[in-house]
Amino acid sequence: MPSSSSSSFGSASNSSTRAATRLEQVSKQMASASSSASHDVWHSTPFAPPDAIFALTAGYQQDSFDKKVNLGVGAYRDNDGKPFVLPVVRKAKQILAADDTLDHEYLPIAGLPSFVKATSKLIFGADSPALSENRVVTIQTISGTGANHYGGAFLSRFYEPWLGKSKEEKKIYLSNPTWANHKSIFNSVGLTPVDYPYYDPKTIGLDLSAFLDFLRKAPKQSVFLLHACAHNPTGVDPTREQWKEIAKIFKEQEHFAFFDCAYQGFASGDLDNDAWAVRHFVSESIPLLVCQSYAKNAGLYGERIGALNIVASHAGDSEGGADRIRSQLLILQRQEISNPPTFGARIVGLILNDEAMFEEWKRDIKTMAHRIIDMRKKLHELLVNKYKTPAPGPNGWDHVTSQIGMFTFTGLNPEQCKAMVERGHVYMTGNGRISMAGLNEHNVEWVAECIDKAVRGQL
Ligand SMILES: Cc1ncc(COP(=O)(O)O)c(C=O)c1O
Repeated sequence: MPSSSSSSFGSASNSSTRAATRLEQVSKQMASASSSASHDVWHSTPFAPPDAIFALTAGYQQDSFDKKVNLGVGAYRDNDGKPFVLPVVRKAKQILAADDTLDHEYLPIAGLPSFVKATSKLIFGADSPALSENRVVTIQTISGTGANHYGGAFLSRFYEPWLGKSKEEKKIYLSNPTWANHKSIFNSVGLTPVDYPYYDPKTIGLDLSAFLDFLRKAPKQSVFLLHACAHNPTGVDPTREQWKEIAKIFKEQEHFAFFDCAYQGFASGDLDNDAWAVRHFVSESIPLLVCQSYAKNAGLYGERIGALNIVASHAGDSEGGADRIRSQLLILQRQEISNPPTFGARIVGLILNDEAMFEEWKRDIKTMAHRIIDMRKKLHELLVNKYKTPAPGPNGWDHVTSQIGMFTFTGLNPEQCKAMVERGHVYMTGNGRISMAGLNEHNVEWVAECIDKAVRGQL
């Protein structure tokens, strides 16, 4: 029997036994901890490929060459290569900063009402019958990317011809080529992206007959993504006559038009002109939705302000009515972000609803669009007259001036593009696309010289 003292404090041998037991317990715990560490729950996570554009920008930033040029990223730069805060946006920010009545409450799920109302007017036009008939359902989104995501998710859940269909059967047709993120976005919401012919590398222009043929042969009620203006990455847009032909087949085939409008105003410098295709499709009663972004045309890249507009066949809450669509869009928004962010919506809301600020914004857009157009002319002039550079297409270098918007598809092949980056320090994607917004009076000569040398295999 252990003595009371030994039971209280333990004998030497008992205490060493207990110490041994404790040690054993601790070492067991440590073993189980280390075995759980070795069973890494992220073990099978594959390394994702880096985003090509962001990798290009990282390469540019690390480059110490003094004449380096970044023509990869699709963001506007001023003539000194600096990010541009639009004067009208500066003004709007000052107004907001001085307004003591503004708080930080949640916005309604659909977004800031004054923004939501005005944004649909901007794309469809103030006199749009779809608007006056209350057939347009609009929701504020996380810029154009968020609008594309919701557009795809909404179709995946509710597009009548797809009900009960598998992912493989829910095909969304995308122009070949298209914005790099489209495929990834639509894949992630249960759709299967499929290419349609659009760009003809031989002419560095639109392959209209192949496109129209594809539209005719696609199953009825197919979903086609169309770039409303300033096609990314090619800069090749259909003319109005060509849009009419495209719309005619949409109507005959009852196709659905998924318009992505990331550059309204940026293409021609005129907001209405750049919305023409969308408005024409609405006037032809073609079923459609439109994604909007204020990243480029208001320079609000980081504020993530955009909208998704779905046009219903009729107003109200009966089958197929706008109210039913709105109710489901609200659910989608609630699931994904609960409430959209305030700042960008307030800025754009102010600009769109104030006549003087709206006029000023139009002037700012013209400043950006026309600087890009000037750079197109300058690059064209250098290649044609100064360097007499052999052209990659049948129409000389005219595609540099005839393409529209932020990007030019130069026609350079992947090897030439590689030389541009590695030896010219001109950062551009391997498909030959350059962002015209990255060109300015200080670097256009160097870029033209590098293009000339790359084409001649001398870079
Ligand atoms: C065709 C197209 N759609 C959508 C977007 C989305 O841009 P953001 O999400 O920045 O508005 C872009 C941006 O480059 C684009 O080029």
